[in-house]
Amino acid sequence: MNPTTLRELLDDWETRGLLARVKKEVDPEYELGAVLRHFKGAKPILFEKIKGYTSPMVAGLAGERNLLADSMGITGKELIPKLIESIVNPIPTTKLGTGPVHENVILGEFDLDDLFPILTYHAEDSGQYYVAGVMVVKDIAGKNRYTSIRRMQFLGGNRTSILITSPELYSQYQYYEERNEPMEFAVMFGVVPAVILSSQVSTHLYHTDKLDIAGALLGQSLDVVQCKTVNLEVLAEAEIVLEGKMLPHIRETEGPFAELAGYYGTISQQPVVEITAVTYRNNAINQTIFPASYEEKLPMALVREVTLLNTVRQVIPNVKDVHITMGGVARYHAVIQIDKQSEGDGKQAALAAFASDKDLKHVVVVDKDVDIWNSDEVEWAIATRVQADEDIFIVPGAKGSPLESSHNIKGVTAKMGIDATYPLARAEEFKRTYIPIDIKIEEYL
Ligand SMILES: Cc1cc2nc3c(=O)[nH]c(=O)nc-3n(C[C@H](O)[C@H](O)[C@H](O)COP(=O)(O)O)c2cc1C
Repeated sequence: MNPTTLRELLDDWETRGLLARVKKEVDPEYELGAVLRHFKGAKPILFEKIKGYTSPMVAGLAGERNLLADSMGITGKELIPKLIESIVNPIPTTKLGTGPVHENVILGEFDLDDLFPILTYHAEDSGQYYVAGVMVVKDIAGKNRYTSIRRMQFLGGNRTSILITSPELYSQYQYYEERNEPMEFAVMFGVVPAVILSSQVSTHLYHTDKLDIAGALLGQSLDVVQCKTVNLEVLAEAEIVLEGKMLPHIRETEGPFAELAGYYGTISQQPVVEITAVTYRNNAINQTIFPASYEEKLPMALVREVTLLNTVRQVIPNVKDVHITMGGVARYHAVIQIDKQSEGDGKQAALAAFASDKDLKHVVVVDKDVDIWNSDEVEWAIATRVQADEDIFIVPGAKGSPLESSHNIKGVTAKMGIDATYPLARAEEFKRTYIPIDIKIEEYL
């Protein structure tokens, strides 16, 4: 059985030496984040003591492919097929009368900052932020449930702002706003990586309940309980839940904040939320994700790889694998491996990639003998199989990511496809050197 709760997962990883513990007291302002940033958010770390607070905090659970896969009992290579299967065959949640997340319930007046730490991450960030909570909402018909992660800037007391960049969720909020009504939500902290990963699956594309997708990723139904002050369900074994309402017609200044690409985002006016209840387990373990770290990028990259693979496969049935790289900010760069069958396959695969995702800027297509998970190998293919005047194409003025910093007109970007496959007629010349025996290196060193 795969661990479905944070506590089970931490116990499992600790037993197997995969979890690091920081015993030294850390400051929630910069210091905790500095440790996470050192490991790029790819190392699971439990901070036992946070200055001014009694609860511990964990991070780095979903920043490394093999570990993220391990949390679901699979290997890194199985991640994409498993995610596709889980989107197609989700496992519905099970509703319980009560659960550990309701062991403590705080209602009435409270100051969020008194309860659990709200961290400050980078110099020049506009303040303290929640960045890792998995938010639950229902669609306007009150039927379908969706999760996502939205950063929330602490505004004092029980208020935060919220940054919603998805058109779907924002239009739901606007629907309520037009009626002068608040929109209910709940935010869960202290969940397993499968819940974080599934929260990144596009609502717009699939409209599938993402807690059900998480259940399928873990191979079992997840328990949920009814919230105390909003008409939503949350995971019964989440460590901490904030219940609240997005208020209509109120905006607060948000940002600057360190964005995914490693630069500061712009200042904008964003909706304000009021937290109506905080519920938590006894000895709650808080959770964060260092902004712009691998832990933020990897779940996003994985869901994009699903879409990329599916789209390229429609035109190049022999696509073998796809990789959206971390260095390419988990959205601008893709490497595609194909078993080339005819001339033109390379460029066609790159074109399909651009069609699959407006954010992609640079796509490299390589043959099946190139390891797309090794950047040296990809560079080698570009170095030895590309003639720039024939194998590179540029599409100017296409739609791009609004987050992208290098464009001259915001949201408009040039696309570059690199066909690093060799000409089929010259296959013999591109045969890689090899040694005709296998050795076990332990026998020598
Ligand atoms: C760690 C992390 C932080 C994120 N922060 C935000 C955010 O502040 N605002 C936002 O709109 N999306 C943010 N996202 C991306 C959304 O969660 C993601 O696009 C969304 O869940 C996709 O689902 P949707 O199609 O239902 O919007 C974040 C993702 C991660 C992994």
